[in-house]
Amino acid sequence: MIEYSFSPTGEKFPLPASEDYKNEFERLKELVNHQRALGREIVVVMGLGFVGAVMAAVVADVTDEEGNPTKFVIGMQRPSVRSHWKIPLLNKGISPVSAEDPEVALVIDRCVKKKETLTATYTYDTLKLADVVIVDVQCDYLKESLGNVQNGRAEMEALEESLEIIAQNIDPKTLVLIETTVAPGTTEQVAYPIMKKVFKRRSIDSDPVLAHSFERVMPGKNYVASIRDFWRVCSGVNEEATRRVEKFLKEVINTEKYPLTVLDRPIESETTKIVENSFRATILAFMDEWSLFAERNGVDLIKVINAIKVRPTHANILFPGPGIGGYCLPKDGGLGLWAYRHIHGFEDDIFKITPLAIDINDTRALHVAQLTRDALRNMGRPIASADILVLGASYREDVGDTRYSGSELIVRRLTEMGAELRVHDPYVLHWWEFEKQDEYPASSHSLRSFFRGQEKLKDLRIEQDLKKALVDTDAVIFAVRHKHYLDLDPDEVMKSAGGPIAVIDCFGILDDEKIRRYFELGCEVKGLGRGHVKRIKDQVRDRKEQLLLEISMKDEKSESRLSAEQLEVLNGGWKLKPED
Ligand SMILES: NC(=O)c1ccc[n+]([C@@H]2O[C@H](COP(=O)([O-])OP(=O)(O)OC[C@H]3O[C@@H](n4cnc5c(N)ncnc54)[C@H](O)[C@@H]3O)[C@@H](O)[C@H]2O)c1
Repeated sequence: MIEYSFSPTGEKFPLPASEDYKNEFERLKELVNHQRALGREIVVVMGLGFVGAVMAAVVADVTDEEGNPTKFVIGMQRPSVRSHWKIPLLNKGISPVSAEDPEVALVIDRCVKKKETLTATYTYDTLKLADVVIVDVQCDYLKESLGNVQNGRAEMEALEESLEIIAQNIDPKTLVLIETTVAPGTTEQVAYPIMKKVFKRRSIDSDPVLAHSFERVMPGKNYVASIRDFWRVCSGVNEEATRRVEKFLKEVINTEKYPLTVLDRPIESETTKIVENSFRATILAFMDEWSLFAERNGVDLIKVINAIKVRPTHANILFPGPGIGGYCLPKDGGLGLWAYRHIHGFEDDIFKITPLAIDINDTRALHVAQLTRDALRNMGRPIASADILVLGASYREDVGDTRYSGSELIVRRLTEMGAELRVHDPYVLHWWEFEKQDEYPASSHSLRSFFRGQEKLKDLRIEQDLKKALVDTDAVIFAVRHKHYLDLDPDEVMKSAGGPIAVIDCFGILDDEKIRRYFELGCEVKGLGRGHVKRIKDQVRDRKEQLLLEISMKDEKSESRLSAEQLEVLNGGWKLKPED
């Protein structure tokens, strides 16, 4: 029976049959012979995910001073039902990752169709043809409970399997560059022994030429530049590996403008990645308690942060949205804790801040459900059976990546509380974390197991039409700072909804003027870290009372003698009741 792999747009691609492999390898050999004759280095990128697909194109785009390509790149991807579609799509010159950065599509199209320096394949035999192998497969961290990163483990199987396969196939002189974020110690204490053992079986005496250089890619507006025009760190397992990785990176990355840091050992490069992401996770987590402080004491945390940012020494202070998602920040610190015990064999508990930060970030979104419940309760509507619209599914603004987004937790908790959820996101076509929640991000990784009543979320579909999504909704949650949401007019929102709604601002999206207008329209507003909304509500109520008094004191209530504000109140606007 033929198995198929479906792209996110629904295109159907058959998985290769066993007889296809021979022909595919012949195709690649022919291509490589031709490319070698042109003097090009052959680079295989293993894993065509968010990192590998774009890194492959960046390398394929490299030219010498005369503008001639110097590399030929073969993207190698496992032909699994879930991922095989990436291969035929890339071979058509189409990016397998959706991106805000228009350069992603352009560079892939250019390298596949015009320069002919990029192809993709499913056969591991391609490794036999490589001068350089770049490893961009995933290395996950599996959390066994919600809000306790200590209760989990690194999932290194895909990486270990890849290294074994690489060692079985490559020429011993091939540079193997691990870009995957790994538990510190992995390159020297996991990857090197795996490769050395396989080399021994193949009667190869030399050491693998193995190095580590992590990615700092940010899938967003500057996706391509965040790979090519960005600072890199690297290190090899020996002098030869360090020399080779340095040479390679200087050829493909803009190291003149963004200098390369070469460290003594791979564990230092690996630790750099984990520490820089743990640092960011920590400064975000630290704001969670101040966010609650602000909500309970009439403080607008957004204004506080802006006031602090004026000091150049504190310019990187950040407002945490409804949870800290993305693939990296929720897991990288976990890889560090795990390595300390399971790679290096220590028993004591030195990590306090790193796990606490991840735990706080992993559960911050639950508070959004509480705010929604409270806002609806103030309007006399029970959360159970309320229709709630979440604006934004991705983990950050203006990208289509939903991995570990705060919005997922919001949807799960509110569903558990009985609400009916709908979602709008202009960048996301399918929210696989729900549609395929039994198998995505992996069968053991779905957050569904931490909540009850999640079955129906398989039917959750992303609504692309915002106006349609708003019809008859009871509450709107501004969850992501997508540019589409920043200027939404309260009057328009309420008109589309068909009446007053609860509005929850998770990311400082609403300015005071909009908050005021929502209150005037009879809506209820709450926000993460936005304690001042109560003050605005009081002001609106006082103003309404004053206007009603003014109207009652007028001898003649002819419309021509009333101000616009008085008229609005007289005509049933400003639905806010005086007793609110
Ligand atoms: N996504 C980001 O923003 C980002 C940023 C910096 C660093 N990183 C790191 O880069 C690494 C890769 O991340 P990603 O986002 O690209 O992951 P991803 O899951 O999108 O991609 C990994 C790809 O590797 C493939 N793969 C797995 N095993 C394979 C094998 N044996 N042979 C061939 N292909 C195989 C998978 O099918 C998948 O397509 C991770 O370590 C991640 O932490 C990611």
